[in-house]
Amino acid sequence: MKFNKKQVAMIVLALLTMITTATSVETEIKYTNLQVLPKNIKSGELNKIMLDEFEDGLGVGCNFCHAPDKNDSTRLDYASDAKPEKKIARVMMHMTLNINKQYFLIKQPVLGSPLLAVTCSTCHNGQPRPAMPSE
Ligand code: HEC
Ligand code: HEC
Repeated sequence: MKFNKKQVAMIVLALLTMITTATSVETEIKYTNLQVLPKNIKSGELNKIMLDEFEDGLGVGCNFCHAPDKNDSTRLDYASDAKPEKKIARVMMHMTLNINKQYFLIKQPVLGSPLLAVTCSTCHNGQPRPAMPSE
């Protein structure tokens, strides 16, 4: 089978469209319920915070803060705020950023940055609930 110039051009165009659609789906995950992290955060950065700061910092799995999907209990619904732990984590994120800003004079503290003086691990040290003085 032989293609004429027009057919070749159309095939090339179709392939290019396929490639660009595939890559844009991969790099642009739209998060729908970010209230503390930047709304346009890259998925690599978000995943690093979830894994290194939260999961390792508190010694828990994703399901400690994220509720199961209502339609498929084998999956987590990351945007859902159904679990109180997720809401507490947001308060803790604000607190952690404020400690860095007010007391360690870090101008624009960002979670996951190696420049932070205080992180989740500083207090949690791999535990979901640091011991309180009364305990
Ligand atoms: C200590 C609690 C905690 C743990 C553990 C945790 N997360 Fe999160 N996650 C949060 C909070 C809080 C937010 C919302 C942040 C905000 O409002 O800016 C969030 C947001 C997200 C989002 C964005 C959802 C959206 O569309 O708004 C994804 C995706 C996500 N987490 C994935 C994960 C994965 C994967 C893991 C395990 C590796 C994980 N998280 C572990 C607390 C946690
Ligand atoms: C200055 C110390 C400190 C820092 C920093 C800190 N936490 Fe906490 N966190 C605590 C203490 C203390 C408790 C226990 C409070 C209680 O038991 O009433 C706690 C409790 C929590 C809980 C509730 C756990 C449960 O079982 O109810 C979550 C979730 C949490 N922290 C997430 C985080 C995350 C995420 C970060 C980092 C963004 C963070 N914390 C940073 C001190 C800290």
